[in-house]
Amino acid sequence: MTLLRRIGERLRRPQGVPWRSAGLRTESLSADESVRSTGWVFDNKTGNVSLESFTTGGDNEVRRYLKLFGFSDDGTQELSMVEIGSGIGRMTAGFSTRFGVVHAADVDAAFLERCRETVFHHGQPTALRTVHVADGRTLDIETGSVDFAFSYITLQHCSSSDALSLVHEALRVTKSGGNIALNFRTWTMLDTALVPLGGLVRVLWRVPKAAKYMARVRSLTRLGWQANRLSPDDVLASIGTDLIGTRLRDVTVVHSPRRSVRVSAQGVHRRAVRRVHPSHWWLVARLA
Ligand SMILES: C[S@@+](CC[C@H](N)C(=O)[O-])C[C@H]1O[C@@H](n2cnc3c(N)ncnc32)[C@H](O)[C@@H]1O
Repeated sequence: MTLLRRIGERLRRPQGVPWRSAGLRTESLSADESVRSTGWVFDNKTGNVSLESFTTGGDNEVRRYLKLFGFSDDGTQELSMVEIGSGIGRMTAGFSTRFGVVHAADVDAAFLERCRETVFHHGQPTALRTVHVADGRTLDIETGSVDFAFSYITLQHCSSSDALSLVHEALRVTKSGGNIALNFRTWTMLDTALVPLGGLVRVLWRVPKAAKYMARVRSLTRLGWQANRLSPDDVLASIGTDLIGTRLRDVTVVHSPRRSVRVSAQGVHRRAVRRVHPSHWWLVARLA
């Protein structure tokens, strides 16, 4: 990428800069080395992680979430899916052993290279297709072609407008009768400090020397990610509440029992599930 294009990209999409820094660090590393040096980008665990322990954790989450979203253990082999924000394949490996086709979509091309390596070692490489989300908002996948659109800890890291665009894309690429499960982060008391601080960190990230340092500091990188908070009302209004019960069936907001969520639209179910993080919520639905 030329210097001018890089600068243009940084100005247009500041929330992508911390990801690009992490991506750059993985460019010259194997997937295992990437996990050892940047595993904290994807995982809440720090310390002694390897590619194997990383994907084992991801696989456990894949099993739990598929069960939560109503898939049976042996019912997905013929199905296709897209994982929006696959990163270096923590969960993609697990999805690839369960689904016939998995489109791993990510804004960072270096992460996708590592993702291919992760799936090669710990998943089913013949099931994997990678999709570079070069503009951060559209998926190069055919309309109505996948059975399941999934996204975890990703839509909070884009600008609101990119996140909502990816929601529309998830609906576009999912077949009639297919399912979506999209994870978001909503406001907490802490966010009143975290979100402005995240903006400040992203400004500092534009200074190359500061960026080099910050990309190695976990707390600063994680602050830099804090790009948006979307509530169920924000997302449902963007999709169009007239679609609830018509194009979208069984629309459910899955949330933590420790948080009450406000949903103004009619016809939306709520489901409290203990394992959901208190600041997260999921939009789960089936396409008519
Ligand atoms: C915290 S990681 C989560 C990765 C994976 N879902 C997991 O749970 O291990 C967030 C991922 O979202 C990707 N990402 C951020 N903004 C994106 C965008 N606009 N489009 C696609 N991917 C994006 C980042 O590059 C990163 O790989």
